[in-house]
Amino acid sequence: MKNSKYSAMWLEYHKVSDLETRYSLKVEGFSRDDRIITSAAHELSLGLKKMTGIELILSDAAEGSRSLTIKKDLSVRPEGYILKGDGENVQILASDERGALYGAFALLRAVACGRDVSAIDESASPSNPLRMMNHWDNMDGSIERGYSGESFFFENDDMIIDDRTRAYARFMASIAINGVVINNVNVKGAATYLITDRFFAKVKELSEIFADYGIRLYLSLNFAAPIELGGLEGCDPLDEKVIGWWKDKIREVYDNLPDFGGFLVKADSEGRPGPFTYGRTQADGANMLADIIKPYGGIIIWRCFVYNCTQDWRDTKTDRARAGYDYFKPQDGDYHENVILQIKNGPMDFQIREPVSPLLGGLHKTNQMLEVQVAQEYTGHQIDLCYLIPLYKEVLDFHTCSGEERDTVADYVSGRTMGNTLGGMAAVINTGNDFNWTGDDLAAANTYGFGRLAYDTTLTAEQIAREWIAQTFALDREHEDILADMLLRSREVYEKYTCPLGIGWMVYPNTHYGPSVDGYEYSRWGTYHRADHLGIGVDRSDKGTGYAQQYYPENADRYNDPKTCPEELLLFFHHIPYTWKLSTGKTLIQHIYDSHFEGYDEAEDLAKAWDSLKDVIPQESFDRVKERFDLQLDNAREWRDQVNSYFYRKSGIEDEKGRTIY
Ligand code: GCU
Repeated sequence: MKNSKYSAMWLEYHKVSDLETRYSLKVEGFSRDDRIITSAAHELSLGLKKMTGIELILSDAAEGSRSLTIKKDLSVRPEGYILKGDGENVQILASDERGALYGAFALLRAVACGRDVSAIDESASPSNPLRMMNHWDNMDGSIERGYSGESFFFENDDMIIDDRTRAYARFMASIAINGVVINNVNVKGAATYLITDRFFAKVKELSEIFADYGIRLYLSLNFAAPIELGGLEGCDPLDEKVIGWWKDKIREVYDNLPDFGGFLVKADSEGRPGPFTYGRTQADGANMLADIIKPYGGIIIWRCFVYNCTQDWRDTKTDRARAGYDYFKPQDGDYHENVILQIKNGPMDFQIREPVSPLLGGLHKTNQMLEVQVAQEYTGHQIDLCYLIPLYKEVLDFHTCSGEERDTVADYVSGRTMGNTLGGMAAVINTGNDFNWTGDDLAAANTYGFGRLAYDTTLTAEQIAREWIAQTFALDREHEDILADMLLRSREVYEKYTCPLGIGWMVYPNTHYGPSVDGYEYSRWGTYHRADHLGIGVDRSDKGTGYAQQYYPENADRYNDPKTCPEELLLFFHHIPYTWKLSTGKTLIQHIYDSHFEGYDEAEDLAKAWDSLKDVIPQESFDRVKERFDLQLDNAREWRDQVNSYFYRKSGIEDEKGRTIY
């Protein structure tokens, strides 16, 4: 169902002053008619007028006494900008149009954050070449793992292009997103036809709107398209007929969509077709497509989420966590230069706490991109508050200990370690057609934060939170502190009342909301906690599945030994007795009890903190979030009591503090 009403999220442009002056807007070195420069000029006029009352006169002639100039300066790094004010006149310097647009948004952000921009002196350039959003939108309008309404790109197996489309593109450009995959990685039904003339005209129209904001459109691809669209018998990547079919198809795609970015591919994963069926490697599949798309400047982004999803829970040797590395590491170096491997942050699947995937930086001859999930599939469905930027920061800052001087995940995915130019960050986005776009108004902090962090991985989670609050709610310092503190604490709170010490997965199957301690314990998904009456955890050391050995030696050794393993990941790597003493002096079982009681109490504190903002947050927004906190408390209570009861019943060990456990 179309929903044409929508909020302005962080582009509300709240009033900060009332100057009623005029500035002339000059453009030097760029074409004034360029589509991106036009967007930048439009945004500056709109934003400055609303926030400051300043009227921009779009003219090269100096009409007012002061000017704002968008100026080409080839010394600025690609997609970067410099903002310079001399007290009177302000300049946005950039070497390309995207940089100019990002500079315009940066200037507006500075105004919204209450800074005096007349003497601004600021520069930035992207940490990552590719900064992408992945929509898991289906063409029937549903969204896989969507918690904010329906798709605003698709409905009834057709495409939607309306006001929201442009509004969306503005949001993305304001956080410097330069690539968007519009359809779900599980490509089925009508979505397979996005690369046929049934949809070319509309995809083109959409890509034109994106192009106005410097965004390239990408599509998820059905690896079995030669069968489903072409009527071929198979889709073996080394079969000449299949290759011929793709050549024709990709030519047709570029004839119709000259600015098309390329394809995202989920192959041999969770029932999707892929090269394994034909005894080929993932590299065979990716390279075949990459070679064909290369002359058009396109890229193939190949996901590494490949694992056996029909595992027998009785089998303790097979380890899903190992799968990505086992499948992709042997072909490191074989992937062609326009292939990027897209790797989820952890080896499992977006749990609230996982170790960093050993493939990140484990590959050192292959383009790689970090995939994170902004959509809160396992982290509270945009009901429970969970600000995820601290989690992304941890991943980016992780030292792979590869022996390279630049050895963090941020170094690898940005291209700094290997000197490659294709890499970056991608997020499974959390938007839908709800009025506020993200279900929970506060979940927009994650949408915003992902883009900002992907552009500048040195920003802190707190800086990003404060920027977002200032632009969204324009709170005074005291109230901004309260909301920033809520956001910054929320991930730990969620972790405390859900799954302890990196174990993950004690979640209700399929929907992935709420507790079900054994929900996945006897399933086919490779997601077990192995709790018995003596202890809990999965032995992934050299005595267990050997997963820990997939890291470079320093990390492998650290993870291999329960005494040196970081405690927040203890149960991910080891099977530990309930009586084991943690560094706090508490036993493991006592830690489980305490953390669940604390987690609930802290969730209550978050809800109270929100109540204290009642008078400073717009009523509707306040009410929407408040409703969610009520639900979060119900959820936290279930988690607390079910997890605690479960372990009390398994272990028979009393809570030292004698609290109620069922
Ligand atoms: C998770 C998620 C699926 C999704 C998959 C993926 O398993 O539950 O809905 O398709 O990840 O990343 O491909």
